[in-house]
Amino acid sequence: MAVKARPSGSVMVVGAGIAGIQSALDLANSGFKVYLVEHSPSIGGTMTQLDKTFPTNDCAMCIVSPKLVECSRHHNIEVLTYSDVKEVSGEAGNFSITVNKKARSIDPDKCTGCGTCMMTCPVTNRLQIQEIFEEDAIEEIEETERIINQYGGKRQSLITILQDVNEKFGYLPEGALRSISTHLELPLAEVYGTVCFYKAFSLEPVGKHLIKVCMGTACHVRGAGRILEELERYLGIPSGQTTEDRLFTLDTVNCLGACALGPIVSVDGDFHGNMSLLRTAKLVDEYAKRK
Ligand code: FES
Repeated sequence: MAVKARPSGSVMVVGAGIAGIQSALDLANSGFKVYLVEHSPSIGGTMTQLDKTFPTNDCAMCIVSPKLVECSRHHNIEVLTYSDVKEVSGEAGNFSITVNKKARSIDPDKCTGCGTCMMTCPVTNRLQIQEIFEEDAIEEIEETERIINQYGGKRQSLITILQDVNEKFGYLPEGALRSISTHLELPLAEVYGTVCFYKAFSLEPVGKHLIKVCMGTACHVRGAGRILEELERYLGIPSGQTTEDRLFTLDTVNCLGACALGPIVSVDGDFHGNMSLLRTAKLVDEYAKRK
């Protein structure tokens, strides 16, 4: 006969990552009333940001999602998000705890997390560039604003604006992205999301010459890996980095669409096919001499 456990006391679990959530569920299933306190606005912690888990390569969200739902629906668990423990007094078995629950600008009982309010909110935070950024960044922001104005400050022009700014500075500085977010009235996360989606955009300053080694299948079987190693050795940087003198950035790409010429290295958009280890250093020296 199944006997439903009755709550026999209350427990506070501080921190609602996967460990806190599991502890809260175990305690709640044992009949305790559980207060699950979490500093951030939502529960789940780092695990919700992972793709796979070690060592089984199981999907992280597939593991944590059912626990999030169970936790929020469990009649013995009270979730206190966006909250901090301020004071603990008393003794073992009889503690009094003061919790500071921060104010939210939404009604959590009604919010479904759709994000639509963010898009339609009439309040925007204007960027106070002089207060936030160094003097040399102000020039970048002003140049970004000029580009934004060229496109009439329209949201639909986001990618074109990002392309122009990326071309102008060789990368997308933080100030420029914040400026775009403010002027186009788009959440910064959306601007970053777009930037991260396209490999053509860079968040780091790139060198004067951009070297890309094709690591597509055709180039790979013809020795592209060794070409990349040689370039890394000669330039003294791993792939994805820029030399100290800002002359070269080394990167990889998956198929440049000229497989018959593999292995291919592209420098500033020019293709150099049938690359060999011997030609690699010469190619770098040739571009280093260019004004
Ligand atoms: S695999 Fe290198 S160009 Fe296609």
